[in-house]
Amino acid sequence: MFSLSGRTAFVTGAGQGLGAAIARGLAEAGARVALTDIDEAAADAVAADLRAAAHDCIALPLDVRDETAFARRFDAAVQRFRAIDVMVNNAALTPSTSLWDIPAEEWDQVMAVNLRGVFFGCRIAGLHMRDRGAGRIINLSSIAGQRASAATGVHYAASKAGILALTRSFAQELAPHDVTVNAIAPAAIRSPVLDAMDEARQRTVRAGIPLGRFGGAEEVAAAAVYLASAAGAFTTGATLDLNGGRLMR
Ligand SMILES: NC(=O)c1ccc[n+]([C@@H]2O[C@H](COP(=O)([O-])OP(=O)(O)OC[C@H]3O[C@@H](n4cnc5c(N)ncnc54)[C@H](O)[C@@H]3O)[C@@H](O)[C@H]2O)c1
Repeated sequence: MFSLSGRTAFVTGAGQGLGAAIARGLAEAGARVALTDIDEAAADAVAADLRAAAHDCIALPLDVRDETAFARRFDAAVQRFRAIDVMVNNAALTPSTSLWDIPAEEWDQVMAVNLRGVFFGCRIAGLHMRDRGAGRIINLSSIAGQRASAATGVHYAASKAGILALTRSFAQELAPHDVTVNAIAPAAIRSPVLDAMDEARQRTVRAGIPLGRFGGAEEVAAAAVYLASAAGAFTTGATLDLNGGRLMR
């Protein structure tokens, strides 16, 4: 049920953190993976690691803010793999500027990467998958889009809430074509962003998690594998919460 053997995937922001872990998880489940990132060297390094473990992967530079470049990179991955079965819209900026201090330019940058980039990713992959009558789209939201968060900025939170709306709209639109569209909403997952927080802040965040620990990137990867696999075929328009019980609904 969870095998991705014979499947192909395209992951944005795969150069580090959750994107890299998701690319690895999909590859370990059997998928061939296109790893993309604005940081080409970082995507290259992760792809090289995966290839060293005998996984079939390519790395492509991609800035998700640029729709034309996005479509071109997606086409390159389609050329290489013949089709893309799984799209993971993961790339994001995670600033924590106080809402009183966010400059307009920073607001626009966060929206351009986190929300507009996901919109482009859903539309480009959605058209390809609609034509094929099959596919899975997975969008990385956050608990910040579901409840008030002091740890990240309001622009980040607004973009992550917007992703949930995008997810439902694309899910509705693509359901007749057997394409599922879902969101993963993680909280406090061990990653470079979390590691950058000072120890006192990390303690406060951990104290608010009923399971009493941070999540692992491989646990987010496992959720992506579920949504991408046959096991997830009847799940669409959903948000999978991975937050250790911080939000129960
Ligand atoms: N880490 C967590 O605890 C956590 C919690 C909730 C949600 N998330 C979400 O998970 C996803 C990954 O988070 P992370 O912690 O690994 O983030 P991260 O900052 O470690 O990695 C983000 C990646 O996106 C890339 N990127 C940035 N701008 C880009 C652009 N314009 N085009 C293409 N790539 C770009 C970066 O180079 C980087 O490799 C994000 O969507 C984030 O909002 C993470």
